[in-house]
Parts: sequence; C-alpha cells; structure tokens
Amino acid sequence: MTAIPDDKLYDYASRLKNRVVVITGAANGIGRETALQLALYGAKVVIGDLDVLGAQKTVNDIESAGGTAVFLKCNVTVWEEQVALFELATSQFGAVDIVVPNAGVAELGTFDTVTFKDGKPVKPDTRTLEVNLTGAVYTTHLALHYLGVDRDPEADTLKAVVLIGSMDTNIIPIAARLFLAGIPLTPVPRIAGAIIYAATNPDPETNGVAFLLTDDGPVFMVPREEFKMGVYKMIDERANALLKGASGLGYYFRLLGDLRRILGKPIVMTGIALVVAKMYWDHRELLGEPE
Ligand SMILES: NC(=O)c1ccc[n+]([C@@H]2O[C@H](COP(=O)([O-])OP(=O)(O)OC[C@H]3O[C@@H](n4cnc5c(N)ncnc54)[C@H](O)[C@@H]3O)[C@@H](O)[C@H]2O)c1
Repeated sequence: MTAIPDDKLYDYASRLKNRVVVITGAANGIGRETALQLALYGAKVVIGDLDVLGAQKTVNDIESAGGTAVFLKCNVTVWEEQVALFELATSQFGAVDIVVPNAGVAELGTFDTVTFKDGKPVKPDTRTLEVNLTGAVYTTHLALHYLGVDRDPEADTLKAVVLIGSMDTNIIPIAARLFLAGIPLTPVPRIAGAIIYAATNPDPETNGVAFLLTDDGPVFMVPREEFKMGVYKMIDERANALLKGASGLGYYFRLLGDLRRILGKPIVMTGIALVVAKMYWDHRELLGEPE
C-alpha cells in the first residue's frame, strides 16, 4: 500500500488536456469538485445529472474559469438517458476518454423496517440500489463501448473508468456511529484529486488498483493483490471495535434504565456521565486521542 500525499495527486494531470470526460452527478459534491478540477487541467467535461440548476452552475463556473463543459439532464437509472449523454459527448467532442460514474444517493428508505399494507408486507424501497448500483453499471457498460469510439491509435492513450465505492458507516448501528462523530471526514478536494490521479497515472501497474481514502489521512494506493487482505481487514477491525462499543452501550443503557426506576433521576444522570466517560476512555484510540 503506497501513500500518495495531496501535493502528488495532480502529478499527471497535464495529461487531461483536451481529454473528454463523462461524469455523472457533477451538479454537487464530489462530482462537482472533480469536474471543476478536470476542466482546470484542460479536459472537456460532459455532465449528466438530475439536478439541472446545479449542473448548469457547474458548467457556468467551468466556463467562467476558461474551461469547456456541457451538461444533459440525465437520470442514471434510465438507460436511454445515459446513452444520450454519451452520444452528446461523442457528437460534441468526438470521443470519450475518461468516465466517472459518480451519481449516487445516500440510503433512501428503511430496509430494516418492514411496513405493512392491508396486513401484507410492502415491497422495500430499492432506489438506492437503482441509482448507486444499476446506474453505475449502465455508465460502466456504456464506457466499454464509447471509450473505443473514434479512438486514435497513434495518440497517447489515456482511457479510464474511475469507480467510486463507499465503506459507509450505515452498515454499523446508530449507537456505534456515535463513536465516529468528531473523526474528521475526507476533504472533497482530496477525493477529486484521487479520482484525477487514478485516471491519469500512466503506469500500467496501476490499472485496476484501488485507492483507499480513510477519514483522516492521505490517499492510499492499494495493489489488487493487497486489496482484500489490507482493506477488508481494516474495515473488519474497525467495524468490530464499533460493534463491541455499541453492544456495550446498549448494556449500560439497560442497566441505567433499571437503576433509574430503583434510585431516581439525579443518580442516573451521574451514571450516564460516567458511562459516557468510560466509553470515551475505552475508545480513545478510535477517537484519535493522542497516546
Ligand atoms: N459523501 C460521502 O461520504 C461518500 C463516501 C463514499 C462514496 N460516496 C459516493 O460518491 C458519489 C458522490 O457523492 P457526494 O457526496 O458528492 O453526493 P452528492 O449528493 O453531493 O452528489 C450526488 C449527485 O448525484 C446526483 N444524482 C443523484 N441521483 C441521480 C440520478 N438518479 N441520476 C443522475 N444524477 C443523480 C445528484 O443530483 C447530485 O448532484 C456518490 O456515488 C456517493 O455514493 C460518497
């Protein structure tokens, strides 16, 4: 695993000059920042997003800075709309060089609560899967074709698809997530830098590698063979520590509930303060306190 400091993330960005990038979800957040940076280095940016106002703003900001960008209203879950997006890129700029399936939504609906209508379970809300998975699969499938259209065999070939994944803490119970509060989150410019580094690094050995962005640290480049062991081990350790904390917290709150009934409120409030202090102490390494 190699650490790539922030000031190295744009080392190969000059290769972006005149490249055509299709990026979804660039009206906001990570996609917007990535689109702005891509355009600063001379890429022609083609944005597909549901948010027309936001996408227009990204395009305006790129053009004000002297860059080139277009957008099309596109719902990534609709195949035909994504085809239209790639067609726009090729008709306007002649080719597609980099594809970033970035559009995504946070968890929609509540999978773990079964609701009922007329006494029967209601179908769960699967929009998150439709956008984050099916949408990204459509974009990647189209990339397989459009990255080869009008490809100049003589040119310095820069063709890339950069996929974004998440180790979302939603897999962890709410109580355990409390322990994450206060841990600094990855700054969006670093994520944009990592996407650009991933797309532009000319070393063929970096094809198919993973980039790991921890909450507080540099971008790590993880070779394919190390990915499973290194990253999953880390997630596993962190999730287990958090789950242990969560079950401990549940135990203490049940105990405090009983004590409250027996002893009354003031003593229990003191107890809560002690529990919080203990949980903090037990998880001080996780919370990043200096040794
Ligand atoms: N923010 C995080 O902590 C985080 C962590 C890991 C991965 N991600 C992933 O990174 C990507 C960007 O996240 P973000 O935080 O910038 O999100 P964001 O909400 O700021 O931006 C997402 C963009 O996607 C667009 N979008 C949503 N549904 C769409 C659809 N059906 N069709 C077209 N566009 C659609 C939105 O309009 C928005 O512009 C997402 O795929 C997200 O899952 C985010």
